[in-house]
Amino acid sequence: MEFLELARKRYSCRKYRDQAVEKNQLEKILEAGRIAPSAVNFQPWRFIVINEEKMLKQIRSTYARSWFQSAPVVLVLCVDYKESWKRADGKEHGDIDIAIAADHMTLQASDAGLATCWVCNFDRDKCKSVLNLPKYIEPLVYLPLGYPADEPSANHEKRKALKDIIHWNKFEE
Ligand SMILES: Cc1cc2nc3c(=O)[nH]c(=O)nc-3n(C[C@H](O)[C@H](O)[C@H](O)COP(=O)(O)O)c2cc1C
Repeated sequence: MEFLELARKRYSCRKYRDQAVEKNQLEKILEAGRIAPSAVNFQPWRFIVINEEKMLKQIRSTYARSWFQSAPVVLVLCVDYKESWKRADGKEHGDIDIAIAADHMTLQASDAGLATCWVCNFDRDKCKSVLNLPKYIEPLVYLPLGYPADEPSANHEKRKALKDIIHWNKFEE
């Protein structure tokens, strides 16, 4: 599949089929995250795979949307702030690294006919407690994962026009 076609195919899936995700597909998605670029190649990520019923129940309680309950797998993408790169002015880059890994994963999932949705609006404190995360491990993104049972929402096509976001050679208001 041509890259732009794949990038257009990915959408935020908010309804999943009651169908397990094959282990080899899950491994490919994790591999896509593993090979993502990161600042100074520090790779400050921890990917927590939630696919057992007991843990799914607990993680679902941290984002109590009805659609979220249908995903058979949830990937919790965390940054290890002990390992992430900080620029000389203090700017933290671990969050950027996790976002890139997440994007790799969503695209790999779409390529395999699976679907995902970025979720950041979860209860962070509850997540940390459910997963027993130490202070320096911060959960940043949930990726519910499964076979889609919906179609892209209207939002999916709503993107700003290139002319409104591109600045050639200089920035103008
Ligand atoms: C950083 C980030 C956080 C997001 N958090 C949530 C969320 O908590 N819940 C949700 O339903 N969608 C969330 N989304 C999905 C966006 O709403 C969605 O990507 C956007 O509306 C564009 O639609 P599309 O992904 O179908 O193209 C998030 C997306 C990003 C990139």
